[in-house]
Amino acid sequence: MVGREKELKIRFVPGRCELVEEDVDIPSRRVLITGATGLLGRAVFKEFNGNNWNAVGCGYRRAQPRFEQINLLDSIAVHDIIHDFQPHVIVHCAAERRPDVVESQPDAASQLNVAASGNLAKEAAGIGAFLIYISTDYVFDGTNPPYKETDAPNPLNLYGKTKLEGEKAVLENNEDAAVLRIPVLYGEVERLEESAVTVMFDKVQFSNKSANMDHWQQRFPTNVKDVAAVCRQLAEKRMLDPSVKGTFHWSGNEQMTKYEMACAIADAFNLPSSHLRPITDCPVVGALRPRNAQLDCSKLEMLGIGQRTPFRAGIKESLWPFLVDKRWRQTVFH
Ligand SMILES: NC(=O)c1ccc[n+]([C@@H]2O[C@H](COP(=O)([O-])OP(=O)(O)OC[C@H]3O[C@@H](n4cnc5c(N)ncnc54)[C@H](OP(=O)(O)O)[C@@H]3O)[C@@H](O)[C@H]2O)c1
Repeated sequence: MVGREKELKIRFVPGRCELVEEDVDIPSRRVLITGATGLLGRAVFKEFNGNNWNAVGCGYRRAQPRFEQINLLDSIAVHDIIHDFQPHVIVHCAAERRPDVVESQPDAASQLNVAASGNLAKEAAGIGAFLIYISTDYVFDGTNPPYKETDAPNPLNLYGKTKLEGEKAVLENNEDAAVLRIPVLYGEVERLEESAVTVMFDKVQFSNKSANMDHWQQRFPTNVKDVAAVCRQLAEKRMLDPSVKGTFHWSGNEQMTKYEMACAIADAFNLPSSHLRPITDCPVVGALRPRNAQLDCSKLEMLGIGQRTPFRAGIKESLWPFLVDKRWRQTVFH
């Protein structure tokens, strides 16, 4: 599963350093990851890269210096990178995924979530690469959970609509592709605002101020490392069995409102939670959200695919670098 290539390395010898040519192992399975600078894409890149895949990540505004800078709206650039790299698998994570931004910039969101996804699927079909398109539980209206892959979608907001149109564009252009629907994500973040889960941490930590927390929408917070492992397992299964394609669901299995997540975060860090106030009414501001879009994951489970990190362990690992009380951090982690 590996090829050998020459690579220039710096060797340090007393008093100087020199450039030497060394043989390096290059895994023969190639994967291209879009959105590799984003919350999920970073985890997907790490997962493949650490498991004997030759992974190339693409980003856009944050691409440099680690990843390839590709605007997915530029179809020539997309064609060129796919033809140059010849990936066996493409994991398409890039999207506009903030519902309120999609509502305020619908044309730009549709270009990325729908048109660029369809184009990527066509390019993948052209070289016989297996495309995994990442979609969302927001394609469902949340009135009749849990949802199987065969249940009829009915998105309530424009974000869900563009992601569903993206699914259709992918499968119309590439009947051998896969769609992987997932719910709200958390994991290692560069900024707390990167995830709808981690963004609550400051409200939890600063317990001198009371904070209203949604206690209406039922969520299934899912660790990006688990989704990344599912993507790799799915890709590897498909390399053995070409009938692995179509729509799949993956999700954590702990049902929580945002209020319950915030309390669990406080508990994980031994912080007070009495300043957190559960709000049980349906939110009136922002894009409409499904009440409970729980995903039934049995199709992937039957294939022997899956990984679930318990929420408390996963959220503690993700949030501890943002803990303000350093004394606590030193006691627990050092
Ligand atoms: N986050 C969630 O809770 C959640 C829940 C369900 C489903 N999903 C789905 O999961 C996927 C990943 O979400 P995420 O949270 O990781 O998103 P994210 O952190 O917002 O990352 C978005 C990615 O898209 C890239 N991108 C934006 N415009 C681009 C363009 N014109 N050309 C190329 N790349 C572009 C960004 O690159 P730069 O930053 O470098 O510009 C970034 O890497 C999405 O498909 C989303 O719909 C997410």
